[in-house]
Amino acid sequence: MRCPLRRILSAALLLGIVLGTGASPALAGLRVDPEIEARIDALLGRMTLAEKVGQLNQHSGTFDLTGPPPASGRARARYELLTSGGVGSMLNVTGAEATRRTQQLVVENSRLGIPLIFGYDVIHGYKTMAPIPLAEAASWDLEAVERSARMAAIEAAAAGVHWTFAPMVDISRDARWGRIMEGAGEDPYLGARMAAARVRGFQGDDLAAPDTIAACAKHFAGYGASESGRDYNLANIPEPLLRNVYLPPFEAAVEAGIATFMAGFHELNGVPASGNEYLLRTILRDEWGFDGFVVSDWASIEQLVDHGFAADEKDAAGKALTAGVDMEMQTSTYPDHLEALLEEGAVTMETIDAAVRAILRVKMALGLFERPYTDPSAFPAPANAEHLAAAKQTALESAVLLQNEDGALPLSRQISSLAVVGPLADDPHEQLGTWVFDGRSGDSRTPLAALEALLGDGTEMRYVKGLETSRSRDTADFAEAVAAAERSDAVLLFLGEEAIITGEAHSRADIDLPGAQEELVAAVAATGKPVILVIMAGRPLTLGDVLDQVDAVLFSFHPGTMAGPALVDLLFGVASPSGKLPVTFPKMVGQLPMYYNHKNTGRPFDPESYVPIDEIPVRAPQTSLGNETHFLDAGFHPQFPFGFGLSYASFAYSDLELSSPTLATGGSLEVAATVTNTGEVAADEIVQLYVRDLVGSVTRPVKELKGFARITLEPGEARRVRFTLAADELAFHTVGGRRVLEPGAFKVWIGPSSQEGLEGDFELVE
Ligand code: NOJ
Repeated sequence: MRCPLRRILSAALLLGIVLGTGASPALAGLRVDPEIEARIDALLGRMTLAEKVGQLNQHSGTFDLTGPPPASGRARARYELLTSGGVGSMLNVTGAEATRRTQQLVVENSRLGIPLIFGYDVIHGYKTMAPIPLAEAASWDLEAVERSARMAAIEAAAAGVHWTFAPMVDISRDARWGRIMEGAGEDPYLGARMAAARVRGFQGDDLAAPDTIAACAKHFAGYGASESGRDYNLANIPEPLLRNVYLPPFEAAVEAGIATFMAGFHELNGVPASGNEYLLRTILRDEWGFDGFVVSDWASIEQLVDHGFAADEKDAAGKALTAGVDMEMQTSTYPDHLEALLEEGAVTMETIDAAVRAILRVKMALGLFERPYTDPSAFPAPANAEHLAAAKQTALESAVLLQNEDGALPLSRQISSLAVVGPLADDPHEQLGTWVFDGRSGDSRTPLAALEALLGDGTEMRYVKGLETSRSRDTADFAEAVAAAERSDAVLLFLGEEAIITGEAHSRADIDLPGAQEELVAAVAATGKPVILVIMAGRPLTLGDVLDQVDAVLFSFHPGTMAGPALVDLLFGVASPSGKLPVTFPKMVGQLPMYYNHKNTGRPFDPESYVPIDEIPVRAPQTSLGNETHFLDAGFHPQFPFGFGLSYASFAYSDLELSSPTLATGGSLEVAATVTNTGEVAADEIVQLYVRDLVGSVTRPVKELKGFARITLEPGEARRVRFTLAADELAFHTVGGRRVLEPGAFKVWIGPSSQEGLEGDFELVE
């Protein structure tokens, strides 16, 4: 199935339309509107200090508001807080009815009736679960990703949600980090394009429309660089690296008009993100001109004390507000201490007013004053056929074919018998991935169900779970799995990670297939039957010698509600796999952090002189070994590089041409190549543009992605793919963070991954 949007893109290419590499279309988003500012001025003028502080206060949890007002206790205290305007936002209240009751309490009882803004973690869908964000990034399909966020916004808005805590745009180079699943991977360019697409999807063309919700770029900034991939750990990122790699997706979100930001839990270069004035004021507001508001992470203001950055909660409140955190999530250091801090002169009224103004600006932009309640009858049913079809298409485009020995895939629909083995073959919950609150596993279509639907009675199917969960070590059912394999023409193994061992606080020090899954592969492979391994996971995994034992590997990440139909279409060639890795897969965990856009070093890897550990002669003299950068036991290269992914078709790249050997600062260059489908089936290819700046005032990466295009080619069809590379896109941040454009020699590639492609040269001149 081809989506109409993609047909438009293909048509544009046919017509020879040149693809820009960076610029996004003009976007509707949060804007400073003089009329709204005048309304805010008037409202601010009427607000007491307590009401102002109330706007900065976000509470979590649903209240039972069905009976009469509570008479005493905690419930009474909350009731009074809400009705007195002491709360500006709620999180984790959903459902049209629950949000309406809570909103009504505030709007109808508080003195000024300022509506609440309801926030929620709508990370990859609300009821219809799309593939996890890392998977969606593997589609490199900006339209699909935007559509996915749009659907999530529609379903969430119908349930009274005004604001999602997404997109997470943290770059991560470390697959141990559990939250790598929530972002777009390791690359700043792909990350920036994905960030903008998701902001457009959530916020739509008009923030005030009933079916759009405010987005939130998180976790500002550098959280994905948590040392050793352990969640909540510190990040140390030198200024040029911070600005060249970690900040671009955040800046792209601002350019897309994002309404809110979230400060991280972590510390960056010694200063906790939730008290980091350099990030939250100097960069975010002063440099980028962000006009929305910043929310803390869950209790991250209070945690400034644990960090050893604030003496006590009062100190923490003063430091966070002054640094630029406008709204406090969950804890109450602001309501508890801001009044005293103001009296003591530790915070200013100007700072409080600016925070309130930013929050009111977003509430007004969302139209909450005019439309505080949600009318669910105005929305389509959640998880409807259209949403499910779109989720299937995204899942289809997100799966990456890592290995396909001797054309083991696609399987024939005429196959007479099939063993279906593994804990993830028929688990409607685990395929959804983590960050799922309202998504129902009852809506999930599992691979087993989809196989039955596709193959019907013509194929004898033998399903054996083999292991209870992905972490099980009990091998009691292996014999049954082996027997099923022996009696079948091929084996489909569905392995990977359960949702719960990925995501927040779920970092792993080992990133192999957990439990006894590797043993299950070995047992089944020993039958000599063709083995197709499908992996659902929240991060790249090290696959060890599993790769040598199986014929094909399809890596789908957690594909969401429509995992089954999407994967089965791919396995049986209804569609060709087309995803490409948004993150490097290491061979061994000790290679981490690992990423394609690394530096060359003064002693680059030399395959000629490299001696693997097993081949080093006993008592070899120290200087007899290659003294270049590598690991004795893992070499230099990853298992699978960034941008890699196989297809059922094959693609030939030819005729690289640059419109000029020189590029003037202020100018642009066209880089083109012909891509031909030399295979026998129609398929999509993701064509990638990379550059290398050979000399810089700070050293430059060996490759940097600067453009990509997903194209569809029929067998034998050739397409000229053209990229426009603007000189400005070659600028980078040097020592001290200055942005510079340095003339000199560049290399450029157009290719199918970060490690292959046609190479050219040009010179950037003054
Ligand atoms: C903590 C997480 O770090 C953040 O991403 C999330 O939005 C909040 N909790 C709210 O659930």
